[in-house]
Amino acid sequence: MISYKELGLVNTREMFAKAVEGGYAIPAFNFNNMEQLQAIIQASAELKSPVILQVSKGARNYANQTLLRYMAEGAVEYAKELGWEHPQIVLHLDHGDSFEVCKSCVDLGFSSVMIDASSLPYDENVALTKKVVDYAHQFDVTVEAELGVLAGVEDEVASEESHYTRPEEVIDFTSKTGCDSLAISIGTSHGAYKFKPEQCTRDPKSGILIPPPLAFDVLEEIEKKLPGFPIVLHGSSSVPQEYVKIINENGGKLPDAVGIPEEQLRMASKSAVCKINIDSDSRLAMTAAIRKIFNEKPGEFDPRKYLGPARDEMKKLYMHKIVNVLGSDNKAL
Ligand code: G3H
Ligand code: 13P
Ligand code: ZN
Repeated sequence: MISYKELGLVNTREMFAKAVEGGYAIPAFNFNNMEQLQAIIQASAELKSPVILQVSKGARNYANQTLLRYMAEGAVEYAKELGWEHPQIVLHLDHGDSFEVCKSCVDLGFSSVMIDASSLPYDENVALTKKVVDYAHQFDVTVEAELGVLAGVEDEVASEESHYTRPEEVIDFTSKTGCDSLAISIGTSHGAYKFKPEQCTRDPKSGILIPPPLAFDVLEEIEKKLPGFPIVLHGSSSVPQEYVKIINENGGKLPDAVGIPEEQLRMASKSAVCKINIDSDSRLAMTAAIRKIFNEKPGEFDPRKYLGPARDEMKKLYMHKIVNVLGSDNKAL
């Protein structure tokens, strides 16, 4: 049993309370490799932004949970080396799907876990979430839960209200489970294809898709029921069209990729939404940089010569999100 406190990590409790109070959101960036982690830490340290490092099931399978945990421990020391005296770094399990996975992360030194039982019937979601909370809280590890189902790429995001979180359930759910934050469904979804073209309008000049707005009315109702309670948005990549263009111009094929407009995320950050999950945008930044180099310099075969620029592009993206979308800069001085 390793306590995250010995590793210099923090849980989300205090940073969420400050973010809700201050009207900004904490970035939750997924990481799978060293370059992503370096870019996240460089951006957060330079901007003194609290940050959540997220480890998904895919990341655990790809890179190994233990190795990722040691990388996060190294990240704290790296942040200090970069001049960030008091780094506020959370190591978070993203979309934990069982009690055992959550427990293993708590035992390994994660400071926060998500139990995603949102696809289970309500009572089972409550029971499993409570079991994780009861375990995690013994070690002061914070727990994110989820109510409502994020629309999949194939679902009718704009029209199927039933996918959204039901505001009438949130008081019962949070009081019965004791969870520390709640991920809700208001129209965001995972990946680079968040809406089907027929759900969007198309800008006549650029041909770029303009997605339907998020269900801010549902968010407002939830906030009224749970004043000041930390709310989380998954699936919040914006799918920057400049990256999609670079990818498509350099041999890629991402037709009609579309995300959540940044303006809407800025609005959400000012509300009780205090954690915004971003993964796909970083994948796009990395892929765009690498594709461009492969196309322009076909003789290049030193990975540092394409992973280095990819890292720089991701850092630029993370800094942009922190300053211009979430407003979390200078909140961890
Ligand atoms: O929640 C989804 C994240 O983007 C992680 O995805 O399981 O492919 O790493 P992944
Ligand atoms: P995106 O696919 O929109 O980046 O969402 C990531 C996420 O929600 C991770 O949990
Ligand atoms: Zn997610």
